[in-house]
Formats: sequence, C-alpha cells, structure tokens
Amino acid sequence: MPDKKKPLVVVTRKLPDVIETRMMELFDTRLNQDDTPMSQLQLIEAVSTAEVLVPTVTDRIDARVLSRAGPQLRLIASFGTGVDHIDLKTARQRGITVTNTPGVLTDDTADMAMALILAVSRRIAEGERLVRSGEWKGWGPTTMLGNRLWGKRLGIIGLGRIGQALARRARGFGLAIHYHNRRRVHLDIESELEATYWESLDQMLMRMDIVSVNCPHTPGTFHLLSARRLQLLRPHCTVVNTSRGEIIDENALTRMLERGELAGAGLDVFEHEPAVNPKLLALDKVVLLPHMGSATIEGRIDMGEKVIINIKTFSDGHAPPDRVLEAML
Ligand code: 8YV
Repeated sequence: MPDKKKPLVVVTRKLPDVIETRMMELFDTRLNQDDTPMSQLQLIEAVSTAEVLVPTVTDRIDARVLSRAGPQLRLIASFGTGVDHIDLKTARQRGITVTNTPGVLTDDTADMAMALILAVSRRIAEGERLVRSGEWKGWGPTTMLGNRLWGKRLGIIGLGRIGQALARRARGFGLAIHYHNRRRVHLDIESELEATYWESLDQMLMRMDIVSVNCPHTPGTFHLLSARRLQLLRPHCTVVNTSRGEIIDENALTRMLERGELAGAGLDVFEHEPAVNPKLLALDKVVLLPHMGSATIEGRIDMGEKVIINIKTFSDGHAPPDRVLEAML
C-alpha cells in the first residue's frame, strides 16, 4: 500500500540537525537553512501553502498572518513554551490547532534564573569586565563587594514548572522562598519548598530582597511589574526576568536603576527584543543576556522532539499531547 501523503511542514528557523533530518524523513518539510527570521510577508506566504507551520518566538503569528492562511493550515506546532507570539483566539476561530513544547526547558531556564541571581548579587559580570579591561589593580578588602544570598528572601512571580525548579535551586543557596501565583499551589509543593504564599503581589514585593519573574506573558500579565508596583520594591532589591520582557515596564525599571532605587537587575528577555533600552547598557549593576535561558543543545533537541511528536500525532488523526488552549493561560 502506498504511504499516505506526508503533510507539508514549513519550519521558520534553523533547528538542530538531528531534528531537521528526522522531520525530512517523516514529513514533506521546508527548512530555513540560512536561519534569517521570516518577514510578515514571508509568514503570510508560508501559511498560504503549509499544512503545518513550525514557528518560534521570533515569528509574530498575528490575526493578519492568520487571516491569510489557506484552509490547508491545520496545525501550528510552535518550537518553544511561550505562545504569546501567536494569536490563539484567531487560530481557534479558524480551526487551527496550536501546540507548544512545555516541560523540556524547565531546568535549563531555572538554571539561568539562578545564574542571573548569582551574577547580579555577586557582581560576576562586572568583575569579569574588570579583569578583561586590564584595569584590575589587585585584591582589596572593600573592592567588588556584592551581597550574600544566604538568608535572603526570594519572591517568585509565577510558581509553575520553572518557578518551582528555581525555588528548588534557590533553597540550596539558602534563600527563603516566597511566591505569588494566580492560584495557590498544592500544599505538598508549598511544604516541600517551605514556600510562603502571597495572595497580594503588592504585599510580597514590599518585602523581598530578590524578585524573579517566572509567569507567562498573557494579556493579564502585560506590565504586571508596572511603574507603580516597581516603586513598592525596596532599594536593595534585585529583579530577575527569564520569562518575557513585556511583563516588566522596562522604561520604569531602567529609570529606577539609574536613580539607585533598585540594587540591580538580571534580564534575559526584553520588552522590544532584540532591541535593548540603551540606558540599560550603560548600567554596571545590570546583567543582560540575549534570551538564552533555554539555550542548551539537549533542550533544543528535546524541544524539536516534542514538535515532531505533536505533528506526527496530529497528522495520524489523534489529539496532539501539547495542545494549547486559551483557557489554559
Ligand atoms: C525559547 C522561550 O528558546 O520557550 C520559550 O517560551 O522563551 C525560549 O526559551 C523560544 O521561545 C523558542 O521559540
């Protein structure tokens, strides 16, 4: 019996070789070898022919793009966990299934959040710059002093998978865990982490030494750390974000850092990525990373495997395991 027709899958960015090879074997796959992000026009072109689109965080799959999708587009199998770059409502209205890749980048992202907490508190990036500059004059009893982590309070905004993985790491560094979440987590998790729940985010912010953003970006979390809320933080507080830049009012954060109203910030994500507020670049007490929280070889392959499983299951006529519904966000 001849094979049933393979679905036409358009991949918008370069993925790990093993993933691309397997996709070529399983599907009628169009790859993006030179890895240049697609323009909105190219995305429109892609959705007019693809049966499955595999986008990443750098593709804006908005209502305009989706309105040009041909009836053959049945699945958007996104390579990544966050889905804020996809207009889920329009996708649903057009009968397009959306999947993501949850779970496989939890530990890598939590590692990066912990690394940023350490880097800012112990001035690691600043020290590294000093050595490289050739300006280092040698050890001194009062030079390069940072802040001890042990015994401080960490407030986690969003105690989901990544927030919990960060909490486990942070406990090893002697940080007391506090959290704010839409819903209080199961008491077993709270007691394992010895975590204190704050129903009021405002109340929590006023009392923390370090705040880490670990919730997804949704319409409800846009500028959750608004100018008003940032003002609630104490001047010795550090802010870390490995989720999405849009959750923090970046201009307000920058102004406060410039005025010395906050101790520092560790940012892996930005409000207008890849643009970074130039005033942030001028600040020594800020550690800035190029959205690399989940950037491990193992993580990228696991993400690709999840994409393949979602496409394969869907094209075999079953419900894909990582289906995203608006109601879940
Ligand atoms: C990914 C991320 O690298 O998965 C996410 O939500 O933010 C990143 O870690 C990126 O989204 C891949 O599309």
